[in-house]
Amino acid sequence: MTTFPLFHLPLVAIDHVLCMMSPFDLLDLSLTSTKTKKAVKDFAKLKTKFLATLFASSDSPSISISRGLNQRLPVLETWSFTWTTDETKIGHKTEDFGVSHNVTKYSENPIGDLMKWYDYIKEVLGCPFRSIYFNLETFPNQNRLIFDWLCSHQNSFGYMRIYSKDKQQSEDIKYLFNNIRRAEELSLTGDLNEDDFHVEIPEGRNLSIQNARFINYEQLLRLKHQDIFFQYSNLTNQEINQFLKSWIACESHLDLKTIEIPTQSRNIMDFLIDIPNEVTTDPATLLKFYHRFFFTVHQAHSIHRSDGKMGSMIMTRVKDTFSLCLLVD
Ligand SMILES: *[C@@H]1O[C@H](CO)[C@@H](O)[C@H](O)[C@H]1NC(C)=O
Ligand SMILES: *[C@@H]1O[C@H](CO)[C@@H](O)[C@H](O)[C@H]1NC(C)=O
Ligand SMILES: *[C@@H]1O[C@H](CO)[C@@H](O)[C@H](O)[C@H]1NC(C)=O
Repeated sequence: MTTFPLFHLPLVAIDHVLCMMSPFDLLDLSLTSTKTKKAVKDFAKLKTKFLATLFASSDSPSISISRGLNQRLPVLETWSFTWTTDETKIGHKTEDFGVSHNVTKYSENPIGDLMKWYDYIKEVLGCPFRSIYFNLETFPNQNRLIFDWLCSHQNSFGYMRIYSKDKQQSEDIKYLFNNIRRAEELSLTGDLNEDDFHVEIPEGRNLSIQNARFINYEQLLRLKHQDIFFQYSNLTNQEINQFLKSWIACESHLDLKTIEIPTQSRNIMDFLIDIPNEVTTDPATLLKFYHRFFFTVHQAHSIHRSDGKMGSMIMTRVKDTFSLCLLVD
């Protein structure tokens, strides 16, 4: 590669050559000289948009790079770097019919090496993180270090999936959520049912919380997300009724499209006390529930917001859990 006379080519041709190169090749090329590094940086800044994903949910963490989301291919081609302490995993693999490439390197300190290499990738290819997959149990002593490092790069993310089962990590969750400003799609799974656990949720569009028992009524009213899904909740029938009234009065949840909240009661009328509503069997409405919640129902209850928007509600049942689902037109 060092003997290829890249800089003897006209500028347009240099771009054509760089355009055909994968992120692996571009990074290799950037390491050959300061001149090539600058060429790659200029090219990446103007001509492509790379995005990164962090996978820190196994003891071999990875960084995956892809060419943004608008590429024309139906499948996103990805180039990944993985660091492992297991020597049997080392190597270069291409999978999924050639669209996923993965280089696995040996490291005594996978997280440390991942952070160092990403700092370089970011400098050269300028690829921010879009997605984060993080299991707080994988590197329990390094969570803060990783969060500080992540937030030194950016405090807004497209997709963030945090898994935490150990109650000890609830402080780490607070630390992270206090430091990020926005997560478009945020998913928090695992158990956080400490009695005094409480955390503010970063802004975003979709919110999914497995154990949302810590979300009280006041906090529910503060959420501005478009899609909200709770798998467990301590909200009372009366609080859910109040929430619906607040929505109807345009006092909260102005952007809400869907919400699913587990309930104590299985009777939808318990939530509709003092709320005008009518039963609908409109197939188009019922089909929307099927598409959004994978639930077949024969009727729904319509409620009307003071500005004219309509919402429809059903109860769903999964095993012993009943949930109220609201879908806004
Ligand atoms: C890359 O390969 C390693 C070793 O097989 C694996 O642990 C890791 O999950 C892979 N990473 C990606 C992003 O596919
Ligand atoms: C997030 O919201 C968008 C827009 O409403 C929707 O298309 C998408 O399916 C949602 N994602 C999840 C994981 O619910
Ligand atoms: C939720 O309710 C359960 C059962 O009543 C209770 O044991 C638990 O402490 C409550 N959790 C919170 C966070 O309020």
